[in-house]
Amino acid sequence: MTTAAPARSTQVDARHPHVMDAESVSLGFGSATIMQDITVGFPTGTITALVGPSGSGKTTFLRSLNRMNDKVRNFWKRGSISLYGEEIDGDSVDPLVLRRRVGMVFQRPNPFPMSIQDNIVAGVKAHKMAKRSDLRDIAETQLAEVGLWSAVADRMNDSPFRLSGGQQQLLCLARALAVKPEVLLLDEPTSSLDPRSTEAVEELVRRLTPGLTVIIVTHNLEQARRLSDNTIFFYQGRLVETGPTVELFERPKRPETARYLGGAVDPGVDR
Ligand SMILES: Nc1ncnc2c1ncn2[C@@H]1O[C@H](COP(=O)(O)OP(=O)(O)O)[C@@H](O)[C@H]1O
Ligand SMILES: [Mg+2]
Repeated sequence: MTTAAPARSTQVDARHPHVMDAESVSLGFGSATIMQDITVGFPTGTITALVGPSGSGKTTFLRSLNRMNDKVRNFWKRGSISLYGEEIDGDSVDPLVLRRRVGMVFQRPNPFPMSIQDNIVAGVKAHKMAKRSDLRDIAETQLAEVGLWSAVADRMNDSPFRLSGGQQQLLCLARALAVKPEVLLLDEPTSSLDPRSTEAVEELVRRLTPGLTVIIVTHNLEQARRLSDNTIFFYQGRLVETGPTVELFERPKRPETARYLGGAVDPGVDR
């Protein structure tokens, strides 16, 4: 039995330097347009931060990258989103397979009402990725990768709901990682966590790249700065500016970006 973290292979495809691309993407619900004409690529093996004021459409955009909005009433999408050049809305794409390849972790930890071990291997079982006899080892390896193994080693069959919020979020990350995604979408994954758990999650995310591509929505600009290679600034449903994080933070090109990074609640208005 091994507790070593599994090696993640870097799946760089030279023909597709971007793991995902959005091209002229507009999104909305009913008569409301939430996102307008977004074109952006996500370089393989990097961390991209999505920032912008509340209501600017970050969650809606993130959820469209693995078709989580499909079942939301009145949702519509125009333009194209692709994974390694393949349209994610294509007839041949099974949304469940897409979500295995493009995993997601939400703001609030959402363990399933089952044992810690069953949580970790839920996706592995659903996608028939392993033999029954291997499930315990897989759970252990995965918990070790997120740094949770020593805390839960003797309670694999217990409920996850007695774990701290930070531990529950690490459990959800382990569950998402167990199915070997190529992209991990994180929607404010640390906003309900204390500073120490936040650090644990950030450290994990850093370790996951470049074997995995991470796209993270965060309200915490310091976190975006600490963690990401590239940043995208959304404001009022538009992509205002994107670039390498250091450049965007130190030399923003657009006045809205500068105002937002400077602490403006509404970057469209001069203070
Ligand atoms: N299911 C929905 N139906 C209608 N409007 C929605 C729905 N989900 C989000 N919205 C609206 O879309 C806009 C962007 O929301 P959201 O993507 O959550 O922004 P952010 O994550 O940047 O705070 C908001 O005005 C919100 O009210
Ligand atoms: Mg949001």
